[in-house]
Amino acid sequence: MRLDKFLADMGIGSRKEVKGYIKKGLVTVNGQVVKSDKLQVAEDQDQVVFDGEPVIYQKYFYYMMNKPGGVISATVDNYEETVVDLLADTDFREDLFPVGRLDKDTEGFMLLSNDGALAHRLLSPKKHVEKEYFAKVAGVMTEEDVAAFAKGLTIDGGEETLPAELTIVATDEKAQTSEIRLILHEGKFHQVKRMVQAVGKEVTYLKRLRIGGLVLDSGLELGDYRPLTEAEVGLLEEGKKATSN
Ligand code: URA
Repeated sequence: MRLDKFLADMGIGSRKEVKGYIKKGLVTVNGQVVKSDKLQVAEDQDQVVFDGEPVIYQKYFYYMMNKPGGVISATVDNYEETVVDLLADTDFREDLFPVGRLDKDTEGFMLLSNDGALAHRLLSPKKHVEKEYFAKVAGVMTEEDVAAFAKGLTIDGGEETLPAELTIVATDEKAQTSEIRLILHEGKFHQVKRMVQAVGKEVTYLKRLRIGGLVLDSGLELGDYRPLTEAEVGLLEEGKKATSN
């Protein structure tokens, strides 16, 4: 790949800025000062140094975000704030996208990445990667609802869902409200809300807690995000690890 792209991809600066740095002699490749931004570098072999600091090439980026309500799961939008808009300038890359969708009013675990193959595997209905949610519900959820969810439901429009694991966390008969956890193995449009609706109740608050074997970091405030470690990226595709809080 071209040296200027290599440096821009690694967040050293915009393509224009890094061309300027190269001209100024701030970049060496394998110990030699390079003055041409067109130089081709092998990202896994050549040693690129910018201003005395080695630059290690990273192809894929993975961020865990605690999505706040009021923000849409898209890269750009003319009217609405997007999850990508929440990234600091230093972390922004044009190829980052949200992996899957959360509704505008849904909070919680949003994965942002530029790894299209991983995104495909996490979202493929065939792979059945678990997603776990916490929800507040208007209405009292019952053991019959747990059984119905476990069998799979017909939701509005006649769609059939896969079996889902519903746990009733709390119910309040007086207020006619409930708190639930729900583990899904697929990601139909508005699925949690539509499943709850199918048993005659309504979701009033929704948060995603987990994707695969990776739980949302409880230290992340709404709107905050952090990179994933390699081990955490591996956990995304792992099996069940129900959250404990
Ligand atoms: N199910 C929903 O209804 N909404 C979401 O944002 C995610 C799952």
